[in-house]
Amino acid sequence: MPMATTRDMMATKRRALLIGATGLTGGHLLQRLLSDRRYDAIHVLSRRPLAVREDRLHSHVVDFDDLPPEHTAFRVDDVYCCLGTTIRQAGSRQRFRQVDYDYPMMTARAVRAGGAATMVAMSALGADPGSGNFYLRTKGELERDLQHLAFRRLALVRPSLLIGRRETKRLLEGAGMWLLPKLAFLMQGPLRPYRAIEAGVVARAMHHLAWQAAVGTRVVSSAELQLLGQIRRGPSDG
Ligand SMILES: NC(=O)c1ccc[n+]([C@@H]2O[C@H](COP(=O)([O-])OP(=O)(O)OC[C@H]3O[C@@H](n4cnc5c(N)ncnc54)[C@H](OP(=O)(O)O)[C@@H]3O)[C@@H](O)[C@H]2O)c1
Repeated sequence: MPMATTRDMMATKRRALLIGATGLTGGHLLQRLLSDRRYDAIHVLSRRPLAVREDRLHSHVVDFDDLPPEHTAFRVDDVYCCLGTTIRQAGSRQRFRQVDYDYPMMTARAVRAGGAATMVAMSALGADPGSGNFYLRTKGELERDLQHLAFRRLALVRPSLLIGRRETKRLLEGAGMWLLPKLAFLMQGPLRPYRAIEAGVVARAMHHLAWQAAVGTRVVSSAELQLLGQIRRGPSDG
């Protein structure tokens, strides 16, 4: 059998784009992508610089309102979206929608045009385009419209409340973060889908989903994320 040349081996490498890398889940995901040698380039688009530096990491500080569709970061194989805000943080519904819908959609369109095959995007438990709740409706609309872009592989992940250490405290989430893990034993049966989930587990599951062989759209519940997030690639997979 002929030996694989370095060029052949290079051809199996993939390039990734991550948006939301400065956030809770995105930070975990960035660490995972950097430790994955199957990626020879990891692009990050963010509005502020990253604390991390690495040879394969291409960090671009950008204004999402003024991003050219032909930006070099859009020529990738896989795109991961951990971008998001809250209506409170954003200051208005309109601004929230810009961050949670417009920026991910703009990125998805641009990477599709650049040839990307895979997208893994964070949505939320209860996302529904018909919801009366603005947050869940926006997430549902994003899920719906991403599916129109015909990625070869699209994973829409729907975590429950995220647990993890964040730079800025969010009051309600903070209370939930303290309480929900303590109530985990109560979250059985019909309540199981609402169990809080570690952001690191979600990141691990997202990474795993991008490398699954199955094609098509997959909507992933918080309970499934919990299971997928336990899967390890090998002994060095921390
Ligand atoms: N938190 C939860 O319990 C929960 C539950 C279910 C689903 N989700 C969803 O999961 C996703 C990730 O959540 P997370 O809590 O890990 O995120 P996070 O820590 O709040 O981080 C959000 C990311 O989005 C970026 N971002 C926010 N506003 C931006 C703007 N105007 N321009 C550019 N970038 C902006 C942030 O950049 P900066 O660092 O510069 O601010 C950060 O990188 C979100 O879509 C969220 O809706 C969250």
